[in-house]
Amino acid sequence: MKPTWILILLLAAALLLAVSMPQAGANKENSVNAPVYTADGSLKLPANYREWVYLSSGLDMSYSPNAMNMDHSMFDNVFANPEAYKEFLENGTWPDKTMLVLEGRKAGTKVSINKNGHFQTGEVMGLEVHVKDEARFPAGKWAFFNVEDGVTGKLLPKEMDCYSCHEQHGAVDTTFVQFYPTLLEIAKKKSTLSRAYLKEEAGK
Ligand code: HEC
Repeated sequence: MKPTWILILLLAAALLLAVSMPQAGANKENSVNAPVYTADGSLKLPANYREWVYLSSGLDMSYSPNAMNMDHSMFDNVFANPEAYKEFLENGTWPDKTMLVLEGRKAGTKVSINKNGHFQTGEVMGLEVHVKDEARFPAGKWAFFNVEDGVTGKLLPKEMDCYSCHEQHGAVDTTFVQFYPTLLEIAKKKSTLSRAYLKEEAGK
C-alpha cells in the first residue's frame, strides 16, 4: 500500500508544478509595458521609462523661425517602450500600445572639469507622452499627455497644435522619426515614411 501513496503524492506534486507553470508565464505577461490610465482618463507615467530604448536627444530645438531665444539650454530625450521598438525594427512603424516619452532636461555648463559645451542636469523641465491606443482613441489612434507632477499625465485636447504639427510633419505615423537617426534608416528601407514628409523633403 505504501508505495502507491508515494506515487500518488508524486503525481500530485507534478500536477501542482504543471498548474503553476502557466501562472509564471502570465506574470511575465503583466510586466509588458502598456499604457495604464487612471479613472479620470489620465495616463500613469511609466515609472521605468528611463530603462526603455533611447531614441535621440534634441538640444534647444525650436520649430518656428522667429522663436524667442531661451535664457537656458535644454535637452529633450526620447524613449520608446522596448516592445514597440522591437516591432519598429521589424515593420518600420509603431504597433498599438506604443508609448514615446519626451523628457526635457535643463542643460548645465562649467561644472566640475567641464569648461565648454553642455551636459544634462537633474532638473527635469517637462515630461510628455505620445501614446498609440487604437481602442481608446479610434479617431486619430494617438494621444498626447502632459505630465506635470511626475506621476500622471493629463490628456491634451485634439485642438492643440501638438496634434496638427505631428500629423503634418512627423515622418512616420505622426512621430518625428526624421530626428531619430537609427529608426530613420529602417523607415526608409521599409518604405513607411509619410507622404507629407516625402513631399517636404522633395521640395527642399
Ligand atoms: C511645430 C511642431 C511641433 C509641435 C507643435 C509639437 N511638437 Fe512634439 N515634437 C516635434 C519634434 C520636431 C519632435 C522631435 C524632438 C526631438 O528630436 O528631440 C517632437 C517630439 C515629440 C515627442 C516624442 C515622440 C514623437 O512623437 O516623436 C513627444 C512625446 C511630443 N513631441 C509631444 C508634444 C506635445 C505634448 C505637444 C503639444 C503640447 C507637441 N509635441 C507639440 C514637433 C512638434
